[in-house]
Amino acid sequence: MTEPIFQAPVSQASISISEQPNTAQAEENGRLREPATIVIFGASGDLSRRKLIPALYHLHQSGFLPHNMAIVGFSRTEISDHAFRERMCESLCDNVESPDSLPQHPLIRSLYYVAGDSNDPAAYRNLHERLNQIEAERGMPGHRLYYLSVAPALFPFITQHLSDAGMIYDRSDARWSRVIIEKPFGHDLHSAQELNRTITRYLDESQIYRIDHYLGKETVQNILTFRFGNSIFEPLFNQKYVEQIQITVAETLGMEGKRGHYYDQAGAMRDMVQNHMMQLLTLIAMEPPSALEANAIRDEKVKVLRSLLPLREEEVREHTIRAQYTSGAHNDVTVPGFLEEEGVAPDSRTESYVAMRVQVDNWRWAGVPFLLRTGKRLHKRVSEIAVFFKKPPLQFFRKDSNPNLCLLADRPKANQLIFRIQPDEGISLTFASKRPGMKLDLEQVNMDFFYRQAFSERSPEAYERLLLDALRGDASLFTRSDEVEFAWRFIHAIHQGWAADPHPPVHYTAFTDGPREARRLTDGIAPWRPLQQM
Ligand code: BG6
Repeated sequence: MTEPIFQAPVSQASISISEQPNTAQAEENGRLREPATIVIFGASGDLSRRKLIPALYHLHQSGFLPHNMAIVGFSRTEISDHAFRERMCESLCDNVESPDSLPQHPLIRSLYYVAGDSNDPAAYRNLHERLNQIEAERGMPGHRLYYLSVAPALFPFITQHLSDAGMIYDRSDARWSRVIIEKPFGHDLHSAQELNRTITRYLDESQIYRIDHYLGKETVQNILTFRFGNSIFEPLFNQKYVEQIQITVAETLGMEGKRGHYYDQAGAMRDMVQNHMMQLLTLIAMEPPSALEANAIRDEKVKVLRSLLPLREEEVREHTIRAQYTSGAHNDVTVPGFLEEEGVAPDSRTESYVAMRVQVDNWRWAGVPFLLRTGKRLHKRVSEIAVFFKKPPLQFFRKDSNPNLCLLADRPKANQLIFRIQPDEGISLTFASKRPGMKLDLEQVNMDFFYRQAFSERSPEAYERLLLDALRGDASLFTRSDEVEFAWRFIHAIHQGWAADPHPPVHYTAFTDGPREARRLTDGIAPWRPLQQM
């Protein structure tokens, strides 16, 4: 199965190649000191063109990379360095002011290409020789970052061959070598455990960087800053004050004509919940780490995953909803239903939408429902975490307690703190206010923070941050083996429950808010927030 990576558009921000790298600012923010070679396995794929090369380009322009880096593409396709450079130039063309001068840009001139079969040991000897040669020519110390943007089945082979070819260095070596592994990391608990076991035969855990691009998003990193960098909200983040937490990742995209085959094997649970949504859940629920350091942060995230109450088979139907979209229209364009998409089996039971109600069963969160939902072809693209606070203990503002009151609602709504991950990145706090006038009318109002208003600098793309961190050896924003396994363990129980359930997934019309059945997950608590952008 080839993971068809992404559909998110590459940043539209225009980048000018006349601009000199801004090394002064980068120095302050952690510029990479020594050059390294980045080897991209699967370099002819989508991810290189759409994400990796643009990210490296931005890092170069912002002065974060030393001038003598090397980026080496490795794939089966037989092409020359020149052709590879041309292809990568094309991927940047739309975003630069002077595309004609791109071929002379130092980043483009640091691109090389080696053709080879990743199953063939000889290809690694050849690659190793070529890398040594490039590094000698460019005066590089030999640090290496291997980026595995390939079908997951190849992860074990590539790590083994890299190790056999002497391309993985141990701690005694002055050079470092690290491996970035793209998602999906395993297909289920068993395969993820197996994969962890295999790759740690050749790599130390400290050399493995399992990527989850959500962790590279500014707004996701800001969750911990917001929680632990301020004193006023954190004391309220617990079962005493929080009624429920809703985590939503809604997309308008469908299979886009090319993802059906992959997606039909994965479904929303594997594609989004096991990784991105579990990460969001851990960040909003975790305890403060003992230090802002990779293992301390990951220890706390693992504790959250361990505290997730596993759903028993008979509970799965009650606490989860899986659904598939049917044909629908948006802006006069009608799209096919999930079962009509290319690559999807006509009788598929794979979910394009999932919603669930889960419990983080620890001292802080006991009894607080966590509601998660994600889906394709929904009405709006919205990713957010909404923390609903409990209502005040005394209900003064109730018609029945004071018949002279004229209220918009019978009771004030819960305060909500909303982390807007994307779009309209920011944070909002909703609270009740008296509407001006002679009567006591309550109105729900917002206090809003928007990145675009508060900050003039552009937010780096997730891949920029993650690539730079991997080059600097900071694994805080990457997932550790136990994190991945605990997330799979939780998902595994749900998959088992679904497998035993004779009922097929329910349906929702494309470009709506999802299946009506999801409403029952909020029985007894505030309903799902409507999917809306600010
Ligand atoms: C990827 C999934 O990991 O994340 C895609 O495979 C999904 O199905 C994408 O569309 C969403 O990423 P973003 O950054 O657009 O929210």
